[in-house]
Amino acid sequence: MSNLARDTQQKLADYYRCLLGDPAQLVAARQSMRLSREIVECLEDEWTAAEERLVDLRELPTTQEAFLNWYVICEKKINEDIRFFVDFMRHHASTEQVAYYICMEEMVDGSFDDLMAVAQLGMPVHCKMVAAENYWDEMGNGDFAAVHTTMFRASSQYMRDLLNNAGISVEVSPLECLMNGNILLMWAARREYNIRLIGAMGLVEGSAPVRFGATTAAMERLGLPKEVIAYHRAHISIDTRHSASWYETVLKHYAAAGENVVRELSLGVMIRYNVAVRYYHYMYKTMRSLG
Ligand SMILES: [Fe+2]
Ligand SMILES: [Fe+2]
Repeated sequence: MSNLARDTQQKLADYYRCLLGDPAQLVAARQSMRLSREIVECLEDEWTAAEERLVDLRELPTTQEAFLNWYVICEKKINEDIRFFVDFMRHHASTEQVAYYICMEEMVDGSFDDLMAVAQLGMPVHCKMVAAENYWDEMGNGDFAAVHTTMFRASSQYMRDLLNNAGISVEVSPLECLMNGNILLMWAARREYNIRLIGAMGLVEGSAPVRFGATTAAMERLGLPKEVIAYHRAHISIDTRHSASWYETVLKHYAAAGENVVRELSLGVMIRYNVAVRYYHYMYKTMRSLG
């Protein structure tokens, strides 16, 4: 992977951070956002074409029934494909290795509430209600201490301090980690790709409980404080529930919207699948190099 590719992904990540930033900060960023937009869209289009070339379109489903069966297989298969990572995490990873993983997860978990907020735009009300329930869970159902991004940051901040003390830097995000976050952010930022985000969000939450289970087991094995584990432990059951209702309502609804929509929904699932598998291979290699 070239430095050029990493620079591109960093540029995208910076743009998305600004785009989803506090509206007050966007006032000063107005001109730079406007100037960046055209370049960013070119970079996004190139990346999209590259990811699409990695997908065999003939293998994607075209009907509701085929999609729903195929999707369930994808959800199971991704955790089989990354079992080496999950088993390593559960049984062998050291505190620093787990810490590195949690800090890199910031790319997705750090903005999941805003991704869910965007995913529900324009949905029919029965789907929007499912997204809204999911979003309200993200907001801790009104309890500030239980807001998921707050809970996640309690964990990632502890882990970041631990890595700093061990002399391990997480300030420069590697290419695979940037891509893992950017793919969802890109599909949120570009409304014409929101349907890919809807497909991918299913896969993200549907496959997450296995990894949250392994990460929780690892942190318990390593004797980490309860408040550092809380976010991961809670999501074993929360995301099981979220992904079940996403499948039952949102995916079923959009899978019935015709061949072109099913194609886009499937591309979202498949591209997310590929980006995530590359990310877990990279994480496995890098975590093990930390010793
Ligand atoms: Fe969450
Ligand atoms: Fe969730």
